[in-house]
Amino acid sequence: MAKWLDHAVFYEIYPQSFYDTNSDGIGDFKGIIAKLDYICELGCNAIWINPCFESPFGDAGYDVSDYYRTAPRYGTNEDLKQIFDEAHKRNMHVLLDLVPGHTSVEHKWFKESMKAGHNQYTDRYVWTDSIWEEPAGMGCIRGISERDGSCAVNFFSHQPALNYGFYKPDKKWQQSMDDEGPKATLEALKDIMRFWLKMGCDGFRVDMAGSLVKHDEDGKGTIKLWQNIREFLDQEFPDAVMVSEWGEPDKSLLGGFHMDFLLHFGPSHYNDLFRCEEPFFSGRGKGDVSGFVAKYKENYEKTERKGLICIPSGNHDMIRLAKTIHGDELKIAFAFLLSMPGAPFIYYGDEIGMRYVENLKSVEGGYERTGSRSPMQWDKSLNAGFSNAPEEDLYIPLDRDINRPDVESQQKDETSLYHEVKKLLKIRRSHPALQNRSEIEFVYAEKNKYPLAYLRSCENEHILVVINPSDQEQTFDCSYIPKETVYHFGGIITATGSHITVPAGSAGFYII
Ligand code: NOJ
Repeated sequence: MAKWLDHAVFYEIYPQSFYDTNSDGIGDFKGIIAKLDYICELGCNAIWINPCFESPFGDAGYDVSDYYRTAPRYGTNEDLKQIFDEAHKRNMHVLLDLVPGHTSVEHKWFKESMKAGHNQYTDRYVWTDSIWEEPAGMGCIRGISERDGSCAVNFFSHQPALNYGFYKPDKKWQQSMDDEGPKATLEALKDIMRFWLKMGCDGFRVDMAGSLVKHDEDGKGTIKLWQNIREFLDQEFPDAVMVSEWGEPDKSLLGGFHMDFLLHFGPSHYNDLFRCEEPFFSGRGKGDVSGFVAKYKENYEKTERKGLICIPSGNHDMIRLAKTIHGDELKIAFAFLLSMPGAPFIYYGDEIGMRYVENLKSVEGGYERTGSRSPMQWDKSLNAGFSNAPEEDLYIPLDRDINRPDVESQQKDETSLYHEVKKLLKIRRSHPALQNRSEIEFVYAEKNKYPLAYLRSCENEHILVVINPSDQEQTFDCSYIPKETVYHFGGIITATGSHITVPAGSAGFYII
C-alpha cells in the first residue's frame, strides 16, 4: 500500500482558475507545472486536479465527453504526463478526478446508446423501456433519442447515469449488477483507470463514489463494486490511491478506499465548524463542536481507526472558508485542520484566505459555487498575476476588492495566514504524533462550550492540542499535564493541577 499517504498533505487545484500561461484567460497544465514549487514550498506534497478531460463544460468538466483525452484548453495528454513526471521529481504525487457515475450527453457512448438498434452501448446507461416510464426518483433525459425509453440522470439533467445495475431490480428494465451491461460498464471504468495509472498518475479522487449502484440504500452493492475495483488495483497497480467523495467513511473504507472526505452534505456535522450561522471557529464563541466530534468518533471507531477521514479546508463545491470566518479565526481553523488525523486537503487560495466572490454570474454550471472558483491571486500585477489576458477574457472574474489577499504580499509578511499555514505544516511534518495515521482521543468537546481539546499520539509522542476560537478565556479540566509547547498562536495555556486556562483566540500544541 502506498506509504506516501501516511505523510500526504494535499492541495486541490481547480485547473481553470490556477495559473494561465498562454494568456487565454483560463488556467492550464503548464501553469500547474510552473507552480509546483510554490505548492511544495508551502508544505504540500500531493495534488488533486479537478476533472481535466474533454468536456462541453456544462458542469466544469464533471461532464466528461472523452475519458481518454485531456481538454485542449488545459493542454495535451503529454502535458498532463509532464505534470506527473515533474511532481514525482519533487517527491510529490498526483490524483486525478474520476467521474464514474455519469458522462456528458456528448459522450460517444451516450450517442450510441440513444440509437434504436442494439449495439455495444445500449446498456451502458440506465434506460427505462418506454419513453412514458420515468426512472422514479432519479430525474431523466427523454424525448431526444431514437430509442424508446427515458435515461436516468445522475446530477444535472445533461449528465446521464452510467449503468452499474440495481441492487435489487424490481422492474423489467432494471438490470442487476451481474448483468452483462453493468459488468461491461465496470470493465470500461477499469480501462480508464488503467490508462491514466499507466501514464503515471498516482490515484484518483472519485466523484459521487457512493451512488453508482442504484436503489442501494445502505450502500452494500456499491461497496461490493468498489471492492472489485480494489482487487483489480491490487493486482495491477497496488500503489494506486483512492479517495472518495462519499461522506460516509464506514462504507467507503470498507469498499477499499483509503480516504473519505467529511463534506458540507451528509451526516458529518462538518458545517458546524466553519459554515453555518454560528460556526465553532467564529470568535463570537456561540458555536457547538460536540455534534461534529460525536460523529467523527463514531466514524473513527467504525473504521477501526485504520482509515483516513479527511476534513478539507474547502473545495470547489463549498462557499469559501473566508466567507464566514476571518483574520485570526482562519489561523485557528488551520491549527485545527492541520493537527487532525487523515490527510489534510487545502483548497487553492485558502492558504491566503481568498474570499468568496459575491454575486457572480454562474460559470459552467457553478451557480453559487462560482464565487469559490475565482482566479488564484498570486500578486499585485495585472489580473492578480493569474493571466495576461484582457480582464474581460478571464474565465471567472477576479475578486475586485482592493484589499484582496495575494501570495506575494503574504510571503513578505511574516504574520500572514500563508506563513501560519506553512509553519503549521512544518510542525506537522516534524512531529510523528501529528501525522495522518497517528491516533486521536478527544479530551474536551462539550455541548456549546469552548475550548476543543484532543490528544494526538503515536508510539513515542503525545501531543495535546487545545483550540479556543472564542473571544473569551476558557477553562477545562484535563488529566494530561502539558510540558513543552511545540506551537502556539495567540497565547499559551496555563495549567494549575488538572485545571487548564486557555487564552481567548488561541491554539496550541503541547507535548505531555
Ligand atoms: C461532485 C463534484 O464535486 C461537483 O462539482 C459536481 O458538480 C458533481 N459531483 C457532479 O459530478
